[in-house]
Formats: sequence, C-alpha cells, structure tokens
Amino acid sequence: MMFSKRIACIGAGYVGGPTMAVIAMKCPQYKVTVVDISEARIKAWQTDNLPIFEPGLLDVVKAARGRNLFFSTDIDAAIRESEVIFVSVNTPTKTFGEGAGKAADLQYWEKVAREIVRESRSPKIVVEKSTLPVKTAQTMENILNANDRKIHFEVISNPEFLAEGTAVQDLLEPDRVLIGSHETESGLRARQEIVDIYAKWVPRDRILTSNVWSAELSKLVANAFLAQRISSINSISALCEKTDANILEVARAVGMDSRIGNRFLNASVGFGGSCFKKDILNLVYICESYGLHEVAQYWESVLEMNEFQETRFVRAMIREMFNTIVGKRIALFGFAFKANTSDTRESPAIYIAKKLSREQARVVISDPKALDNARIDLAELEGITYQEDPYQAAVGAHAVAIMTEWDLYRTLEWEKIFDVMEKPAFLFDGRNIVDHERLFKIGFNVYPLGRPPLKHF
Ligand code: UDX
Ligand code: ADP
Repeated sequence: MMFSKRIACIGAGYVGGPTMAVIAMKCPQYKVTVVDISEARIKAWQTDNLPIFEPGLLDVVKAARGRNLFFSTDIDAAIRESEVIFVSVNTPTKTFGEGAGKAADLQYWEKVAREIVRESRSPKIVVEKSTLPVKTAQTMENILNANDRKIHFEVISNPEFLAEGTAVQDLLEPDRVLIGSHETESGLRARQEIVDIYAKWVPRDRILTSNVWSAELSKLVANAFLAQRISSINSISALCEKTDANILEVARAVGMDSRIGNRFLNASVGFGGSCFKKDILNLVYICESYGLHEVAQYWESVLEMNEFQETRFVRAMIREMFNTIVGKRIALFGFAFKANTSDTRESPAIYIAKKLSREQARVVISDPKALDNARIDLAELEGITYQEDPYQAAVGAHAVAIMTEWDLYRTLEWEKIFDVMEKPAFLFDGRNIVDHERLFKIGFNVYPLGRPPLKHF
C-alpha cells in the first residue's frame, strides 16, 4: 500500500503510544511507526497485553496495527523513512548538577536530536510532544540544523494535553490541539502539515496555532493551573477539618460559580502523575532563571501545599491510631496516582507507604492494575506485601486507607471488610469516595478529608 505520509514517533510510552494509535486509526493514508529503545515495551505493543493500561486503547491499537500502525526498535530506519518525526521520550526532572531537583533533564531529548541528524538524508519536521521547558525547541533546532549535509529541520511544538485514564477519549475529542511553529515561511508550511494531520478528525476551530514559545509555555501553564486548583481545595480541606465545615459542600458552592467551574475541585491525599510536579518545577526554574523570584515562589507554593497534604494525611493516621503503628497491619486501597491507570509516577501512595513502613507498620498494598509498578516503587522496603483482592488485604488490618478513587472501592461490601479487620477499625478516606456515615454505622472510625472525623470514642 502507498502511504501519503510517513510519521515516526520516538518514545512508545503513555503519550507516544496512545497518540500515535489514534492518529493511525483516524488517518489510514499515513504510515505511523512508533519506536523505542525498550525492546520489552515494543514487544508488548505488538501483543494484546499492552505495556500501559488505558481504557479503550486496545481497540484503537487493534484497528490500525499491522495496517498502518507499526511498533519497532529500529529507530534509525523509522527516522530515515519519515517526513514527520514526533518525539515523546521521557524528560524527568534533573537529579544532578545545575538545576537539580527543578530543571528538566534533557539528555534523552538531545540524544534523539543527534540521532535524527545522523540518520536523516532529507528534510524533516520534528514535533516536540514531550513537555519541555520553554525554548527547548530552539535548542533542538540549533542541534538539528548544525548538520554538514545542509538538511533543513523545522521544529514544531505540539504539547499533549491528554490525561491518563481518559487518554483515548481526550485524543478523539480534545478540548484543543495546540501547534506552535516559527512564523517564517518554512515554519508556517510545517505548521500546516501538522494541522492537516489533526484536521482529519478534530474540528478546525479546536486546532490552535501559535509561535513555538507560546505553545511550549501554554502546556506548563495549563498543568500549573490544574495543580493549583487541587492545592487550593486541599488547603481548604485542612481548614474544614478544624472548623466543622464540609469540603464537599464548600467545593459544590464554589464550583457552581460559572466563572470558577466545578471540575478539578476534589480534595485528595495529593496530586500525583508524571506531569504536574515536573512541569511546575520547570516553570519555577524558568522564572528563577529570569530573576522572577516572586513568580517562582508563587508556583512553588502549589507543590509545598501538595506535600503538606500528603504529610498531614499520614501524620493523622499515626496520631489517630494511638500514636503508634508498630506492627499494625495497614491496607492501602489503591496505589495508582489516579483511577483507571496502572501508572504510579509521583503517586502520593508511594510517600504514604514509605512513611508507614518506616514507622514499622506492616503495609499491604492493594490495587486492581498498579501492583507491578508498586513492587518496583517500593522495592527498597522490606516487609511490604501485595494483595490485589481488597477483601484479602483487609484481613487482620487495623486500618484501611483509600489512596486511589477506583470505582471498585465505592461498591465494596464494607460490612465484610469490617468483620475481618482488627478492632477498633480505622478507615482513612484519601479520596472522599465512600459513604462516611454508612461506614461509621457499620462500626468504622472514619476519617474523611475536609470534614471532622466520625469516631466511636
Ligand atoms: C495531567 C493533565 O490533566 C493533562 O492535561 C496533561 O496532559 C498531563 O497531566 P494526568 O496527570 O494524567 O494529566 O491526570 P489528572 O487527571 O490531571 O490528575 C492529576 C492528579 O491530580 C491525580 O493524582 C489526580 O488524582 C489528582 N486530582 C485531580 C485531584 O486530586 N483532585 C481533582 O479534583 C483532580
Ligand atoms: P511519557 O509519559 O512522557 O510518555 P514514558 O516514560 O511513558 O513517558 O515514555 C517515554 C518512552 O521513551 C519510554 O518508553 C523510553 O524507553 C523511551 N525513550 C527514552 N529515550 C529514548 C531514546 N533515546 N530513543 C527511543 N526511545 C526512548
């Protein structure tokens, strides 16, 4: 079959995999090849046991795989044959040297840029898909265009706004697609090529174009605003617990103001995920490097509030369980950073599990999808056990703490769980998803977020 365009995507992770699967499904006239250095990941993409759990993704992959969607470890070949190269490799926060703990670690990105230069024999459009600090595109362009063969590379910023757990839906019906390019003749031409890809299924008025830097910055700012809302509501949850107000009632009243809106106002044990913390740290680092210390501090406080929320949650657990949890079995219900994903990156459950374990509790982790990742995250700790079935996890437990808002936990037979637990039985609801009054009546001592506890003593 003759394809009208060949697209490569370097990086077959949570962003690259689903995005390319949807592009391939929607654009059968394009050949889409997803490549990765990880052989195991690529192998998994070729089976029905995909390397990431994402509702609806397998159907999308199956619709295109082998037709115009291919997974391969031959990165060089994919670069050579493609006119458009998306790059969605990981960009973790630097752990060493200048900017450690804040700046993005761009080593993977730079490696990819050099590989693209080495293998290319014709002009390419290189699309930034990973979240990167503002002005990365410029740096990449400098590396790419410093080649001896006089091949021209145009760098486009096309940040991905999908959220895990709803990735397929977000990709099929995005609120917006953002495409940033240089506003030169070749930049605008490249921009149009990327617009044409998305226009195959996204209404034209949802495809925004801008200069490269605006696109890069918009991604950081969108995530910073979302995280800020969670930190705002979480800060008020702490106040509610002291004052007899109910955070659910407050969030409802506040969210009904159409200027504020009702989404992203769920108080929680803290936000996690690969993006929020990393992107805010990036923003903070950029602001600091321009001498905007007040702006940097303002955004840093969003992260501080998140840490405060995690810390105060686990402290309350210890305090309420009579200030000692040595030898007590504590079941964490959920380990993923949110529901409907197997991803545990930056999950508050990691911090909570470590803290409880260091206090010498016997921690048991339960999660329907994230246990493999949990085992990796907690490998350094001894004595942690893993039990997918929540009913089994609760046997002999002094406390259950809900970490992830899996639907499964809303519909558990809590009487059965209460029966198999040690007494007094404690329930710490880090997501406010169970019926607190009902559980109190069953006999639990219940600790919701943003409401005074319901205790039998
Ligand atoms: C986020 C952005 O939403 C997405 O646009 C971007 O592309 C990547 O980062 P993601 O991290 O996948 O997506 O999940 P998101 O739904 O934003 O949740 C992030 C964290 O905030 C989770 O830990 C979630 O549980 C928490 N959260 C979310 C709350 O605690 N309360 C809320 O009201 C909403
Ligand atoms: P994201 O959530 O941004 O998609 P992931 O960590 O899920 O991040 O995916 C990034 C992928 O990029 C990983 O599968 C990793 O193996 C891959 N990767 C990193 N560096 C390279 C590279 N130089 N060439 C190809 N793939 C790479």
